Amino acid sequence: MASLQDDVAFITGAASGFGLALAKELVSKGAKVIMVDINDCEDEATKLNSQNGKIVAIARKADTTSWEQQYLAYEAGKVTFGRIDYFFANAGIAERPWLPYFNPATTCGRAITKPDTTTLDTNLKGQLYTAALALQVFERQAFNKHGFRGKLLMTASVYGLFPSAIAAMYASSKAGIVNFSRSAALMYAGKGITVNASK
Ligand SMILES: NC(=O)c1ccc[n+]([C@@H]2O[C@H](COP(=O)([O-])OP(=O)(O)OC[C@H]3O[C@@H](n4cnc5c(N)ncnc54)[C@H](O)[C@@H]3O)[C@@H](O)[C@H]2O)c1
Repeated sequence: MASLQDDVAFITGAASGFGLALAKELVSKGAKVIMVDINDCEDEATKLNSQNGKIVAIARKADTTSWEQQYLAYEAGKVTFGRIDYFFANAGIAERPWLPYFNPATTCGRAITKPDTTTLDTNLKGQLYTAALALQVFERQAFNKHGFRGKLLMTASVYGLFPSAIAAMYASSKAGIVNFSRSAALMYAGKGITVNASK
């Protein structure tokens, strides 16, 4: 792997799981990270800074479904580190029951209700907000020492490629990410900007 010394990454969903592991791995390779999560990740950022004896991580609490909150997190990162080389649109949640449980014997008489679209909002809209930040930032910045303007990586899922019998809204959100990243990769080809999605 090429040296990541002083490269900067904006990571959503950085308080746990993939996002936190990624933040630690990138810092271990010399990069700096902006850790964004709806939950507090200040302690994890503080740990990384004390292990490295300098500011290598900042934490920003933000709900990625809010454009305003993500934008403020980006601004804080820009003020601290300058350019941002990588955006990881990673924050996501598992399927939540989006329709009320239906039992033909007991619930036929109940009113039809508005669905809960939290899974779609978080996994698709929230990640598209991160993408919208990334693409606009990349277009405005010069090529870096590696020869690119910026790289956007989105966390999809195998359910973005295959149907799920138990998580239809989750699968639709991840399929949206897969086809968004395929399309945006074509749109930004030749501009020094790459877009990819992982399973
Ligand atoms: N764990 C798996 O098996 C698996 C498989 C395929 C894809 N994924 C995807 O990987 C990504 C990371 O998941 P994970 O397994 O590390 O789970 P995780 O729950 O450990 O991490 C997700 C993080 O996202 C944060 N988050 C959730 N909603 C948010 C919001 N609105 N704003 C900001 N932060 C928010 C959570 O607080 C959490 O820290 C998700 O997009 C998930 O769909 C996970």
